[in-house]
Amino acid sequence: MKKLFCLVSILVLTSISCQTSKEDSTVSLDENKRISTLYHERNLEDVDKLLSDDFVGYYYFQSPKLRTWNKANHKNAIKNNPNVRDSILIQVAEGDWVAERYIRTFINEDTIMNTIIGAMLCVVLAGSTAFAGHLEPFKAVPVPSHNPQTPEKIELGKKLFFDRRLSGDGTMSCATCHDPQQGYSDGLAISLSYPTTRNWRNSPTLFNVGMQATLFHDGRAQTLEEQALFPLMSAFEMNQNLDFVEEEVRTVPEYVQAFTNVFGDGDITRERIAMAIAAFQRTLVSKNAPLDRYLDGDKKALSKEAAKGLAVFEGKGRCTECHGGVLLADGKFYALNVPENVEQEKDPRVAATRRFVAKVSHYEDYRNLSEDPGRYLVTKDKKDWKAFRTPTLREIAQTGPYMHNGIFATLDEVIEFFDQGGGKGNTALKPLKLKPSEKQALKTFLTEALAGQEQPFVYPKVP
Ligand code: HEC
Ligand code: HEC
Repeated sequence: MKKLFCLVSILVLTSISCQTSKEDSTVSLDENKRISTLYHERNLEDVDKLLSDDFVGYYYFQSPKLRTWNKANHKNAIKNNPNVRDSILIQVAEGDWVAERYIRTFINEDTIMNTIIGAMLCVVLAGSTAFAGHLEPFKAVPVPSHNPQTPEKIELGKKLFFDRRLSGDGTMSCATCHDPQQGYSDGLAISLSYPTTRNWRNSPTLFNVGMQATLFHDGRAQTLEEQALFPLMSAFEMNQNLDFVEEEVRTVPEYVQAFTNVFGDGDITRERIAMAIAAFQRTLVSKNAPLDRYLDGDKKALSKEAAKGLAVFEGKGRCTECHGGVLLADGKFYALNVPENVEQEKDPRVAATRRFVAKVSHYEDYRNLSEDPGRYLVTKDKKDWKAFRTPTLREIAQTGPYMHNGIFATLDEVIEFFDQGGGKGNTALKPLKLKPSEKQALKTFLTEALAGQEQPFVYPKVP
């Protein structure tokens, strides 16, 4: 019955989402065409004028491809080759708004593209609908057909993940903030940052990240391929220039060999770097936790106290309303109004980071922004003001401090927060009135039942 309901709701949602995407793209067709034409006449100055609001200098200079973009070639290439489509989506991710407008134009002109993008949207939607409400045991991480997993690609991605060459000043790798010893997080309230700058958010775990429907606390990236280049170019994270990093990696013979083995030739591009890192990240899984065994029928897998905690989690605590599915997360966004980290918010370096992200997200009043607007940056919808994605709870004992701003150091504080009905003025939560013994059991469930089977991590030899 539940399955049937899910199926029907997926179908309904799917058709709504597909219609919406079509309408959205029709509205801006004229504008797209005007920009395309100007651009093809090499009338770059006028393109700039038209896009002046959308265009952010930082991304402009990061995207020299802007000047060599050729619509005719790409249109055929997109139809015939999903890899090329992916590389275009990556360029959009880089903030290449001309490329984005091209994609929108294709959607109007080309029903094939419409179907592809519609299908991608629907997969995301279907995923999040199916999970909501009940817990599910671990299952395999999905792999996109255009970036199949191979042992060589995973190994290459692992090397790149640990390679400090990927940061502008050579001090940071992805593993600096996503450390296997710390649950692929960094143990800090607010993540590290490029020297002289400050980060503004907590580093999420990468365990089972291949299952997330959207990425980042605000869901602004969709795929691991697309996401990998964000921290690389982010001025307050690795602060690297993508053209430069391609050349830097190309100077290392071992990498040229590895790229040849994996991709058929030694061409080292940002897209391939992203594909390899994404493939590696899909191998980061936490599985065979006591909860998995319990859900698979082994009723002895949970201690008495943890089983009591599970009952609170699913019952009086109402945690599964949001923390359901395999990840114990519904992939949706809620404004729980977690307390601000006042000291952090006042730091002028954080203000720069906040304004920068808001500016590149086309938030008009970015100069006057004094707090993290969360999901609002992506949707510009009032209901998403300060809403953040429900995080996975797998391996939760390892991944503190908690919340998007790391405001809670311990699980006790988190449980207390939910017990009191969340932060001031929120409408997502209600006070729970849990007894001390129920809070204790809940904590035991979170720490014991969600810790996966230990897997030894073999560090790569970075060339
Ligand atoms: C300086 C610290 C830092 C570095 C270096 C860094 N990250 Fe992150 N990472 C973060 C923070 C902070 C976030 C959350 C940002 C947000 O939500 O806006 C994040 C988010 C992510 C996410 C999204 C996870 C999720 O659950 O949505 C992925 C995937 C990721 N990083 C992968 C990488 C990769 C790959 C690299 C290297 C190319 C990298 N990170 C380098 C700090 C870092
Ligand atoms: C209305 C949806 C909702 C409900 C109900 C809910 N949560 Fe959450 N939970 C969230 C969101 C959203 C966040 C992230 C908030 C942020 O980052 O600011 C979160 C964060 C957390 C975190 C921190 C995770 C991390 O890595 O930072 C824990 C632990 C947690 N919740 C446990 C629980 C427990 C236990 C319950 C039940 C008592 C519960 N949640 C009920 C939505 C919910």
